[in-house]
Amino acid sequence: MRTPLQTALTRIDELGRLSDSPDYLVRTFLSPANLAAARLISEWMSELGMEVSHSADGTVRGILAGENPTAAPLLIGSHLDTVIDAGKYDGALGIIAALAALEKISLPFPVHVLAFSDEEGTRFQTTYLGSRSLIGPLDAETLASKDADGITIATAMIEDGWHTGAAPIRYSAGECRGYIELHIEQGRVLETAGEPACVVSSIAGQSRLSITLTGRADHAGTTPMALRRDALTGAAECILAAETLAQSQPPLVITVGKISVHPGASNSIPQGATFTLDLRHPQDAERGSALAALHEIFSRIAEKRALHLAWLPIQENSATPCDPALTEKLLHSLTAITGSQRLLASGAGHDGVVLSKICPIAMLFIRCRDGLSHHPDEFANAEDIEIGIKILTHFLRS
Ligand code: HGY
Ligand code: MN
Ligand code: MN
Repeated sequence: MRTPLQTALTRIDELGRLSDSPDYLVRTFLSPANLAAARLISEWMSELGMEVSHSADGTVRGILAGENPTAAPLLIGSHLDTVIDAGKYDGALGIIAALAALEKISLPFPVHVLAFSDEEGTRFQTTYLGSRSLIGPLDAETLASKDADGITIATAMIEDGWHTGAAPIRYSAGECRGYIELHIEQGRVLETAGEPACVVSSIAGQSRLSITLTGRADHAGTTPMALRRDALTGAAECILAAETLAQSQPPLVITVGKISVHPGASNSIPQGATFTLDLRHPQDAERGSALAALHEIFSRIAEKRALHLAWLPIQENSATPCDPALTEKLLHSLTAITGSQRLLASGAGHDGVVLSKICPIAMLFIRCRDGLSHHPDEFANAEDIEIGIKILTHFLRS
């Protein structure tokens, strides 16, 4: 008979093989691999005797009723989607660890395990689609967001097949006793401190934007440099200016993860360059002022180069403190299992940002090797995963 840890380790590998690419791990909103992952997680939940359901946005839920099925439920889970060329622990581990902690436990209240369909926002650049859909319908602007193929979220939810038309999974404010998530740290603090786990104090705010510079296409061979309105060199100057701004104001971080160029011919001067901007800071005021400063810098670069600047905010998420009482309770379990009292602010975003709007949230981080994440070498060792499951189990029982 496999132990819950052995089952968890096997499941991490199993889920990590479900990808939309044969070359690397990627599972995006309602993609074939995303649907396959939802089905596999549904099976795991059924094996635990859970009442399993899924929603039109692809989130899967398993309910363990507990001794008093009408008591306020505890929500626990993470996301089943990934970034591109991802690691197999980001998101997946939180779902699998929750199922492992619930394998041999009976509780006086219901526990709802949630596997969110999209936290990363890889396909549509909007983040937290799964958890946002849990607390209310996605707004029209979000539903109209288009992926690289021009497919909207609304269309994807109709065309995906398995989830099409499924009833929403919804919770209202005050309905749940809380939301807990176990996640890899995706940073280097625990590894540097030589500790296996810690509790999260807050989740950094983030701004996601799409920036487009428009100049004029022209011939690469006959256009003198002085006459060019090159959108790509203008974007390059903006991107380096963003890096310089972030380097000058730690802990501000700014990332440009994706850029596209039009017309994209090697012998045509780029007319258009569109890039993503991801800007984060633990304090919202500093994030806001950095954003304003960057807008000013980009405007000056565009003017100097006779380019048009389109500054398009995609999504704003405020910095979110974890609930003090629930965090204290989770800290007690961390200390009981590891002796540590460490609290750490998360630079990464998590679904708790959304769930905090309807219930108290708390998060548990476990160490990951070299702090690496959003990378195929992302890794958490079995001992730390076992400690994470023990902390969750202690928390559930306390
Ligand atoms: O981007 C993030 O912080 C998370 O991985 N979605
Ligand atoms: Mn991630
Ligand atoms: Mn994640």
